[in-house]
Amino acid sequence: MEQQFISNLSTTSFSIEEGSVNAKSPSNIALVKYWGKKKNQIPTNSSISYTLTNSYTETELKFKKKQSDNFEVEVYFEGEKKDSFSPKIITFFERIIDYVPFLKAYKFTVHTHNSFPHSSGIASSASGMSALALCLVQIENNLGANLSEEESLKKASFLARLGSGSACRSVFKGLIEWGENNFIKGSSDLYGTKYPDTEIHEVFKTFHDTILLIHEGQKSVSSTVGHNLMNNHPYAERRFVEANENLEKLIPILKNGDVKAFGELIEHEALTLHAMMMMSNPAFILMKPNTVAALEKLWEYRNETDRQLYFTLDAGANIHLLYPASDALEIEIFIEKELKAFCQNGNYIKDKVNF
Ligand code: PMV
Repeated sequence: MEQQFISNLSTTSFSIEEGSVNAKSPSNIALVKYWGKKKNQIPTNSSISYTLTNSYTETELKFKKKQSDNFEVEVYFEGEKKDSFSPKIITFFERIIDYVPFLKAYKFTVHTHNSFPHSSGIASSASGMSALALCLVQIENNLGANLSEEESLKKASFLARLGSGSACRSVFKGLIEWGENNFIKGSSDLYGTKYPDTEIHEVFKTFHDTILLIHEGQKSVSSTVGHNLMNNHPYAERRFVEANENLEKLIPILKNGDVKAFGELIEHEALTLHAMMMMSNPAFILMKPNTVAALEKLWEYRNETDRQLYFTLDAGANIHLLYPASDALEIEIFIEKELKAFCQNGNYIKDKVNF
């Protein structure tokens, strides 16, 4: 057990009969990808992500004292009762009970919604688990834990990680690193840490992220299955080393504002993630024909115009277009004219990094 996250509350401090807390947490997009994990959601390599602005989850968590000695959770998603969501939350509660001692003392009702459409293929597990973890830490504080702001966020990140790995990076704004290494001070496998704003060139704080919704709906292989396929993967060890090397290479790039080097690195990361999927056994492909077609169009545009437009991919078919505000006007005309056609139903989401 991780001693530093064990609560200082005793059962006698569960004196509040009922109450309610709220949290809002954004989604994040990784630049260096987490792909592969050990027991208890410990990552096999370090990762770093931008926290987004417009794509978020909002959660209200109501709690009411009860007598029974089990977990009781009722979930409402966009106003509708969703019994199918409860098992995931119960599994999460089971994992974190050692750190959140009041989970069996209360009956919980979760009301949650996302700012992005449910069917968009944007993963809501990072923003959702982060929002829920932030709510739980608020309750812990209301019951008397009195954690400082910094301790509260660290604990929320630690708990969110146990819900969904990358969720630990959604607790903070800016660029967030997760995974222990010897080149970022304070880095940890247990929680995300904010990469210092002073180490980031201003240009990287202006980035837009336009998400092309190439394929809306459920992806064919979940990230849990994908992570597990990195066990016994013939290229896994090299990949884990390379991810850490890429993060280390990113440090001077972030500092000196070299957008081209940044773009090359993140595109390589994205394609490596998908290459790992294709080399898994069994193999799987999450890109769709339109993902590839849009990427080819993007490369063609960049060669012709020299505009600073780059991409990254999540574990799915959608494309995150990353570009600095200085080029946004022209790039957004290109997206509307040329790339929109590759989106299912012509849909894309305009987002920005969150500093
Ligand atoms: O947090 P998970 O288990 O859904 O995994 C997320 C993995 C990627 O999104 C592909 C990469 C990342 O670092 O976010």
